Amino acid sequence: MDDAPGGNTQDEAFAQNRTSWDQRVPVHVASEFYDVEGWLRAGRGPPPAEVAALGDVSGLDLVHLQCHFGLDTLAWARVGARVTGLDFSEPAVEQARVLATRAGLEDRATFVCANVYDAVDALDHQTFDVVYVSLGALCWLPSVDRWASVAAALARPGGRLFLHDVHPLSDALSDDELVLEHTYFEEPEPYIDDSGFTYTDGTYAVSMERNYSWNHSLGEIVTAVIDHGFVLEGLEEHDWTSFARFPWLVRERDHHYVLPPGRPRIPLSFSLSARRL
Ligand SMILES: C[S@@+](CC[C@H](N)C(=O)[O-])C[C@H]1O[C@@H](n2cnc3c(N)ncnc32)[C@H](O)[C@@H]1O
Repeated sequence: MDDAPGGNTQDEAFAQNRTSWDQRVPVHVASEFYDVEGWLRAGRGPPPAEVAALGDVSGLDLVHLQCHFGLDTLAWARVGARVTGLDFSEPAVEQARVLATRAGLEDRATFVCANVYDAVDALDHQTFDVVYVSLGALCWLPSVDRWASVAAALARPGGRLFLHDVHPLSDALSDDELVLEHTYFEEPEPYIDDSGFTYTDGTYAVSMERNYSWNHSLGEIVTAVIDHGFVLEGLEEHDWTSFARFPWLVRERDHHYVLPPGRPRIPLSFSLSARRL
């Protein structure tokens, strides 16, 4: 086990992160950002671009890694997938089960509490047609190679991986300005965040435990995916993201934030699709 700063082990960093995520859950569930009541009323499915990428998922088995309180997971159940969400935060998983019942999707949705690195055992070696990962996932994991090995073990032959995440260039920048502050590449030493900031509802701050995060370059992510037996089918860098990564981003429409005119255009998120050999 690698040492994190202050002599903490990776397990201690995970434990600290889990406490922080446990604390965010009630704030996020009640937030305007997630707008749970609106989501229930509107019966919203997954983002159209993701539906276009994955096609018809009805009857398919889909696993959502780091599913938070299940909103993105259940969106896929709404369009016919049998979904399994996995997250290491017990309050998140509890809320996901509540949301599944409220949405009338409990027959098609299972939620499991486990570290993503332990997902294969936690899911009893079950395999899936789709391994799905949505925004804000990889930065919580020290090794993207280890994550890709889990994704590969969960995907059936011919099954697909779809990942939409924060672009690592964006994560290497300062929180205030377009200035490089962190290393772009994966490093054993985590980035430590004591800001108490969470991404819902603008600059809403919660009293949170310290977070540890790790950046992974786009090349490291693609290499890990290929090394573990996936064939890359698509890789798109987006000049938008779904949360206010910087306080001065312009909100174009719901959950779609772009750089203001006159700023250099840089990638803020990316989508990757791959197929398991
Ligand atoms: C930003 S949220 C994902 C958000 C999701 N895209 C959404 O909007 O609902 C990140 C999630 O990763 C989970 N997480 C972080 N590290 C994890 C780990 N090592 N294993 C499992 N889940 C983890 C957190 O509990 C949190 O729910």
